[in-house]
Amino acid sequence: MKTSNLQPSFSIARPNIRSGRDWLANTLLISILVLFPGCKKSGEDAAHNTATPQKQFVIGMSQCNLGEPWRVQQNADIQAAAAQHPELKVIFKDAQNDTLRQIYQLQEYVQQKVNLIIVSPKETQPLTGPIAQAMAAGIPVIVLDRRILGTNYTCFIGGDNKQIGYAAGKWIAQALHGKGNVVELMGLMTTTPAQQRHLGFREAIAGTDIHVIFQADMQWLQSVAQMEMESALDRFPAINLVFAANDDGAHGAYLAAKSGRRAEGMKFVGIDGLPQEGVAWVKQGILDATFQYPTGGAPAIAEALKILHGETVPKDIVLGTRMYDKANVNQGGQPVADASDAK
Ligand code: FRU
Repeated sequence: MKTSNLQPSFSIARPNIRSGRDWLANTLLISILVLFPGCKKSGEDAAHNTATPQKQFVIGMSQCNLGEPWRVQQNADIQAAAAQHPELKVIFKDAQNDTLRQIYQLQEYVQQKVNLIIVSPKETQPLTGPIAQAMAAGIPVIVLDRRILGTNYTCFIGGDNKQIGYAAGKWIAQALHGKGNVVELMGLMTTTPAQQRHLGFREAIAGTDIHVIFQADMQWLQSVAQMEMESALDRFPAINLVFAANDDGAHGAYLAAKSGRRAEGMKFVGIDGLPQEGVAWVKQGILDATFQYPTGGAPAIAEALKILHGETVPKDIVLGTRMYDKANVNQGGQPVADASDAK
């Protein structure tokens, strides 16, 4: 680079005008060389000195299944949030409700050396080891929705299932004026949300005259819930309400009751509160109440970015919930206050 190009074109009204100019030119040149070291090189090299391209990060996402709308929504939320950050590339794998397949997916991500893993595990215990292996390989792991055993992960993001089950139980106790016959359709009981929702619900109705006359594991599936509800209808002539651990389960129970001409006067309560499902079903009078279970997709990307940039993040992020029933559904539901007596 020629110094003459850097000579200022203005004059300085000082006696020693030449040395003043030289001083200024040199200072300018040094500053430029310090700020833009590429300028030291030949003209050809300098042409490469455009802005450094942003570092790219690959995130591997393992979704336990895409057969349930809530999970399709979770992936869509992750995708939409990641699309705001061109430096992120998210690879999605669907484990198709197969625990072994999900274990292999995590191992593949480790072999691929992705920069970060997001996993929404199918089952608690079997996914604990493979997540620990990813952590041991130096790959940070964000666990979404269903918990694993222990705390060997980078960050867990999910709703408070005990609180949601408890809030549902309180709503039910009020709707039934403290007494009645209830069918409880639980989620897959090898998963923490199913266990926690069940515990919270039972705690909330303890001491009332509400009797759970039939209880079954519907594995989070509408079809299984429908089948279980058919058995319940066969066995019990008086059912006041069905509490299902998710909206698909509540919907399955409703379909069974409807086809048995028993839905009239029976109440149905679920969890998830997706706009196109649970909330729409409350609006249509199919469900009496639903409790939102946020997918955590957008917060997962927000935390992933922090982790990838070397920031520390909280170990556990608990997401809030909203309750939708006939009275409030057209106003967008209402937040569930902390159920302080839910342990
Ligand atoms: C989807 C789902 C949701 C439920 C969540 C709990 O697989 O069953 O309906 O809220 O999982 O993990």
